[in-house]
Amino acid sequence: MSKYPIEERNPGERQLTVRVLAMPADTNPSGHIFGGWLMSQVDIAGSIIAMQVADARVATVAVHDFQFEKPVHVGDLVSCYAEVERKGNTSIRVKVEVYAERDRNPHTVGRVAVASITYVGLDENSRPKLIK
Ligand SMILES: CC(C)(COP(=O)(O)OP(=O)(O)OC[C@H]1O[C@@H](n2cnc3c(N)ncnc32)[C@H](O)[C@@H]1OP(=O)(O)O)[C@@H](O)C(=O)NCCC(=O)NCCS
Repeated sequence: MSKYPIEERNPGERQLTVRVLAMPADTNPSGHIFGGWLMSQVDIAGSIIAMQVADARVATVAVHDFQFEKPVHVGDLVSCYAEVERKGNTSIRVKVEVYAERDRNPHTVGRVAVASITYVGLDENSRPKLIK
């Protein structure tokens, strides 16, 4: 039995897969949000859609592109939207776009980062699993 409904395994559009508040503990020495924290959120956001497509757990195998376009501030509402760019035999390439909303003001929303990441679906032996 599939772990995910069929419509989730064939996503046609981008999905909001992670939404999180940027906290003071996630800052770098300049006081802005640490890029590594954002990369972690993006990796999680992409993996969620990849798991739906693979109908299995996944491993991140490559980050092809990661652009930080604007700084993220403490208190920003960070939203990660993921969409499938390419389905291979065992791999799924996902584009993740990150938006930040400042001061709880919807008029301040802007894109702060974009990334392209490949995940591989894994079987019970942690080997690549064919995507159905
Ligand atoms: C994921 C893993 C099991 C794949 O094993 P592998 O022996 O490399 O498997 P393959 O060579 O058959 O590649 C599997 C798929 O990944 C793709 N792939 C592998 N390396 C890639 C890369 N650098 N870029 C894009 N795709 C890649 C292959 O093209 C293949 O895709 P396809 O089946 O859709 O054609 C293995 O590489 C691994 O365990 N990596 C570590 C994963 C990990 O720990 N991630 C977290 C890091 S913190």
